[in-house]
Amino acid sequence: MIKLVSQLITLFIYIVLLCGFTSYKSTSVLPKKLEEGKGKKIYLEYGCVNCHGTKGKGDGEMASFLDPKPRNFTSLVEMKNLPDSLMMYSIKHGVVGSSMPEHSELNENEINDLVIYLRHFLADYYHMVNMCVTDRHTVDLTKNFENFKIEIDNKKKLSAEIKNNSLIIQATSPIHLINEMSKTKSRTTRNRIKIVNGTGSKAEKILVTVRIHDCIRGQM
Ligand code: HEC
Repeated sequence: MIKLVSQLITLFIYIVLLCGFTSYKSTSVLPKKLEEGKGKKIYLEYGCVNCHGTKGKGDGEMASFLDPKPRNFTSLVEMKNLPDSLMMYSIKHGVVGSSMPEHSELNENEINDLVIYLRHFLADYYHMVNMCVTDRHTVDLTKNFENFKIEIDNKKKLSAEIKNNSLIIQATSPIHLINEMSKTKSRTTRNRIKIVNGTGSKAEKILVTVRIHDCIRGQM
């Protein structure tokens, strides 16, 4: 009987530990470069370029006649709230109240290719990091970054620096962030880091989305 009780207690402790704390990897490797793929051909063939422009800036030949104007696919701010699913929906069905036409003739693969191509305007590399608010995360960039610029969505929340081929990310002030998350009753907060490596046509753009978790479950 005593044995059973002690086993139950051990089990209980395990469950509390499992539910109580979540941890995330503290290192990751930047994934491969996003290829333009087949999307470019479709983008040109179907005339997307006429409105959205060759660089996706929303400045195609027809853009000046349009109201609302096409979104700037190269802008971090404008692309923030545009998930793949919405892009796919808009391409397939068009956008009511705008000149964005429907493309019911395109199949799912073609629409996928288009979305990859559109994403390509904003960044060549995409990476997602999940980390706990009190941790530090290191992304292995796999190559040397010499002439780079780092842009952070919200510097009050997140700090980032590049050292020895690695991007090191941490919360600027964990306590501040924990307070903020508890006020808004959210357990995660999302932030983005954009890095431009090099200049001119050879510049490479890297977008890292960082989800910071409070990592203490069942508190709120
Ligand atoms: C006649 C001009 C025109 C053409 C052609 C066109 N678009 Fe658009 N597109 C627009 C406009 C304007 C919007 C903005 C709609 C809005 O404000 O919500 C838009 C919105 C979008 C969106 C949704 C993003 C958003 O802003 O909400 C995507 C994705 C998109 N277009 C992709 C494409 C693709 C891919 C093609 C070609 C297959 C294409 N568009 C062809 C004008 C055009």
